[in-house]
Amino acid sequence: MDEDFIPVKKSQISLFKSFPLFYFSKENEPLLYKKEGERIKASRIKDEQFPDLFIRASDRENASHALYKTMNAHLAETIFSQGLVPIRQALATLVQEALEGPLNVSGQMLPETIEILFQGYNENKTLVESLAKLSGSSDKLVEHTVNILSLTMQFCTFHHYAEAKVKTLGVSAILHDIGCTQLSSEINHTKTKLSDAQFKEVQTHTVKGHRIIKESTCFEPEIAMVALTHHEKLDGSGYPKGIVDISEEAELIGLINSYEPLAYRGTSRHADPQKPYNSLQILKNEVMAGKYSKQMFVNFCSCLTR
Ligand SMILES: [Fe+2]
Ligand SMILES: [Fe+2]
Repeated sequence: MDEDFIPVKKSQISLFKSFPLFYFSKENEPLLYKKEGERIKASRIKDEQFPDLFIRASDRENASHALYKTMNAHLAETIFSQGLVPIRQALATLVQEALEGPLNVSGQMLPETIEILFQGYNENKTLVESLAKLSGSSDKLVEHTVNILSLTMQFCTFHHYAEAKVKTLGVSAILHDIGCTQLSSEINHTKTKLSDAQFKEVQTHTVKGHRIIKESTCFEPEIAMVALTHHEKLDGSGYPKGIVDISEEAELIGLINSYEPLAYRGTSRHADPQKPYNSLQILKNEVMAGKYSKQMFVNFCSCLTR
């Protein structure tokens, strides 16, 4: 097979409307099957009446982003149904795509780690309710949360963390921005740069999140601490308090929290998502300025570049 093409899963074919698809002739020549923007008939998709199809390797990154967005929307939709089982399934699909799909969708999470996350939370519904609250607040928040969870799980898996630690970090990742559900919907949905007053309000999500998690007694204190301190920096330049003594969990989630918008969504300074290497370069400058731990940064880089 030609190196410049990547196979597309049959089950995902309808997600590739925006991309030209190719098939290979008997002579192993790549031929155009459909142009960019063209749809394959629903009946054909249903009966799988199409050859093995491929995208150009050069479309990989954009296709991966499109696919990931669709799956995230599916996850958000599922969360609305508020059932533990569908959420688990949606997360498991996301994970499976990340592990098996040729497009390398969203970091790498293992299905077992999701099982670990939900163990013990089956009885009281707090975690599920929190996810439902998140999804009701804004799509951006859901996308961000799933990305943080995915990267955190990748970190834990790579460094062979013990189950208890994986669970604390995973739940911390899910809940770190839970305080945002108490911000005004105007702030959660704004697409323009925040005013100073709005940014001040955004900062309160740390204190609000801390309170929400503490009030529901089923979470470990470390998880509430992450919500409170994930925007603190080791040089004292963070918020809400400007402290420099930060727990390992909050340091990790804080670092990933800074990496995620760079790599996945773009920031006010870097409008488009950056390649992982560029995102890490930008983050490295922050590490060199003393905001994050060098060791934590090195450990994070190693889990991304395996
Ligand atoms: Fe945050
Ligand atoms: Fe965050």
